[in-house]
Amino acid sequence: MSSAQLLRHMGSNQPTTGCRRLLPPEPWAPAGLAAHLQRHGALVHHPSSDAWRAATFGEIERAGLVGRGGAAFPTVRKLRALLAHRGRPFVIANGTEGEPASMKDRVLLARSPNLVLDGAALAASLVGAGEIIMVVHRDVRDSVDAALAERRRIRLDSTKFRVVTAADGFVAGEASAVVNWVGRGAPIPLGKAPRMTERGLQGRPTLVQNVETLAHLGLVGRHGAEWFRQVGTADEPGTMLVTLAGSVVRRGVFEVAIGARTSHVLELAGGPSEPIQALLIGGYFGTWVPSPAALSLPFSASGLGVGLGAGLVVALPAARCGVLETAQLVRYLASQSAGQCGPCKFGLPAIAEQLELLAAAMPVRFDDLTRWVDEIEGRGACGHPDGVARHIRSALDVFGDEVSEHLVGRCSASEKRASLPLPTCEPL
Ligand SMILES: Cc1cc2nc3c(=O)[nH]c(=O)nc-3n(C[C@H](O)[C@H](O)[C@H](O)COP(=O)(O)O)c2cc1C
Ligand code: SF4
Repeated sequence: MSSAQLLRHMGSNQPTTGCRRLLPPEPWAPAGLAAHLQRHGALVHHPSSDAWRAATFGEIERAGLVGRGGAAFPTVRKLRALLAHRGRPFVIANGTEGEPASMKDRVLLARSPNLVLDGAALAASLVGAGEIIMVVHRDVRDSVDAALAERRRIRLDSTKFRVVTAADGFVAGEASAVVNWVGRGAPIPLGKAPRMTERGLQGRPTLVQNVETLAHLGLVGRHGAEWFRQVGTADEPGTMLVTLAGSVVRRGVFEVAIGARTSHVLELAGGPSEPIQALLIGGYFGTWVPSPAALSLPFSASGLGVGLGAGLVVALPAARCGVLETAQLVRYLASQSAGQCGPCKFGLPAIAEQLELLAAAMPVRFDDLTRWVDEIEGRGACGHPDGVARHIRSALDVFGDEVSEHLVGRCSASEKRASLPLPTCEPL
C-alpha cells in the first residue's frame, strides 16, 4: 500500500476543534515542503550556539512535552541524557508502530512527513548527532522519501538522513529492538541496561524518539512553550494523535486536545456504533476502563486514571465477551515474546492458556493465573511482560462480573466471537 492509499483506507481528521496542529487540513494529500513551510514557517537552528541550545532546552522543558510512543517520558530529560555520554550520537525516529490496531504514526508520516523530519533535525542539532535514521513502514516510505528529496534539493538540513524500513512484530518498536534492527537486522530487545541514551547504535549514545513526539518537537522549536501549552491541561499539555477503533462509526486517526471530554473524543469518530461496555485505553499494553462511566471523564491520564500510552482507544460493544477478548489478545501478545527471558517466554503462554480455559468457561487454575501475572512483572529484559500484566489486571477488574460467570461455567455475552483486530499469532 502507498501512503496515498493508506490515507484513503484510514480516513482521518475531524472538523476543526481548535487542536489540529500536526495533521494538515486536506484529507488525502501528503503536505509538500512548500505547503508545510507556508503553514508552519521555517524552523531555525543554531547548532553551534550554546545560548540557542540552552534556550531551546528551556522551551522544551517548559512546554512539558512527553513521549507519544507509550511511556510518556519527558522528552527534555532524554535529550539531555545524551549529552552526558561520550561519542557522536545518533537520532532514531521510531515509526515502527508495533501496536496492531494503531495507525497514528503511519498517518502522521503519510500526511505531515516534514514535521517529523523537522523535529528529528532539531533533536540532532540539540544533541550534536551525526546521522538521523528514520525507521518507517513500507507503506509510508514513499511519503518520507519524497519529503527528504525535496529537502535535499534546497539543502534544508545539515544532518544526514537515512531511511530504514521498519520491522514487523509487537516488540519490534521497543527502543533497544529498533536499535538492534537498524544495527544488526534483528528486531529483538537488547535489555534495559545500558540505556540507549548511553550506549546504543554502534555503541554510541542514541536518541530513540517516537515520530509523533518529534513532530511536536518541531512545533515547540518554532512556537515555544507558551504556544504548546495553550491546548491540553496544565499537567498534560498539548494535543495527541489517537487511533479510534472498535465499535465507532468511522474508525480513524484524530488529533485531540488532551483533557477533552472522552465522549467528545469518541464523537470525532461519529460516536459508538452500538452500546459499548468498556474502552481499551492506550494500546494492547493498555488498560480497560468501564463505559459509560469513562465517557464523562477528561481524556487524560489523570482524568481517566490510566496512561494514554500510544493513543489507541478501542470501543468494546456490550454484546461481546470481555474475557474472550482478553484471552485472544494475551495469546497474541504471548506469541510476540522475543523468547529471551524465561518469565516472558514460558509465563505468557501459560497465562494465555488459563485465560483461554476461562474464556471457554471451563475449569481453570484461577489462583495460579493471578499469581503468575504478579510473578512475570518486572522480570523481562524489556517492558513486554509488564504491559501484558497491566492489561490482564485491568480486564479481570473491569470484566469482574463476567469473570465470575465464567468461573461457574456460564458466559453472558450474546455475541460469542472476539472483535479486537489481531494479526495472526505467528511467533517472531
Ligand atoms: C514491547 C514494547 C513495544 C514498543 N513499541 C513501540 C512502538 O511500536 N513505537 C514506539 O514509538 N515506541 C514503542 N515502545 C516504546 C519505546 O521503547 C520507546 O520508549 C519510544 O519509542 C520512545 O519514544 P518517546 O519517548 O518519543 O515516546 C515500545 C515499548 C515496549 C516495551
Ligand atoms: S521480556 Fe519478552 S519480549 Fe522482552 S526481551 Fe525478554 S523475552 Fe523478549
